Amino acid sequence: MAEIAPDGESRNLRVLAERIRSRRTTKLFLRQKVSKQLIRDAIELARWAPNHHLTEPWHFYMLGEKTIATSIELLRTIVTETKTADLADFKAKAAAAIPGWLVVTCKKSNDELLQQEDYASCCCAIQNLTLYLSEAGIAAKWTTGLITRDRRFFDLLEIDWNEEFIVALIWYGYPKILPTQSRKSAEEITTEKP
Ligand SMILES: Cc1cc2nc3c(=O)[nH]c(=O)nc-3n(C[C@H](O)[C@H](O)[C@H](O)COP(=O)(O)O)c2cc1C
Repeated sequence: MAEIAPDGESRNLRVLAERIRSRRTTKLFLRQKVSKQLIRDAIELARWAPNHHLTEPWHFYMLGEKTIATSIELLRTIVTETKTADLADFKAKAAAAIPGWLVVTCKKSNDELLQQEDYASCCCAIQNLTLYLSEAGIAAKWTTGLITRDRRFFDLLEIDWNEEFIVALIWYGYPKILPTQSRKSAEEITTEKP
């Protein structure tokens, strides 16, 4: 703690700020596999997200090769059903080039406020996880594509459709490239009141 200055000038704060700023979504990954232990470590960190009532609404499904292969075929089926076979083929090929698949779910609730708060906590957990991976040189893409709302994907992963919903399918790996991004200035999105 001694190193932390109130003005953002300490080294630790600069390192943290740079990590948050430089985490990028990417879709293009190297073939190199990511160690399972690194993902387990990232999940361990993810669960330290803020969480009202400590409901711990999240669950993390690490997909192995067999499950990934079946998921790719399901993706192909879904895109064929909703678009065209050509696009399905393209999407299946792109999916097959993604080394890491992780699904994050949130517990379902009939209480609207609790559901909103639980979803918020899951999103914070995912941010923790992706920041940790980013520090380890791993990039990710958070997706909410059709497959994440398809009953067949739940059946495949043995997720109870009545108990959980998918917040994210996270594709991860060592990045081929990291795109650049921009944001509005902080002044534009901040209102200071007396
Ligand atoms: C809830 C959520 C859902 C997202 N779903 C998708 C998606 O389905 N497809 C996609 O390409 N990116 C998706 N993204 C990633 C965003 O497109 C990405 O965060 C945005 O382009 C900003 O880039 P950055 O993450 O590098 O800052 C999603 C992000 C969030 C937070």
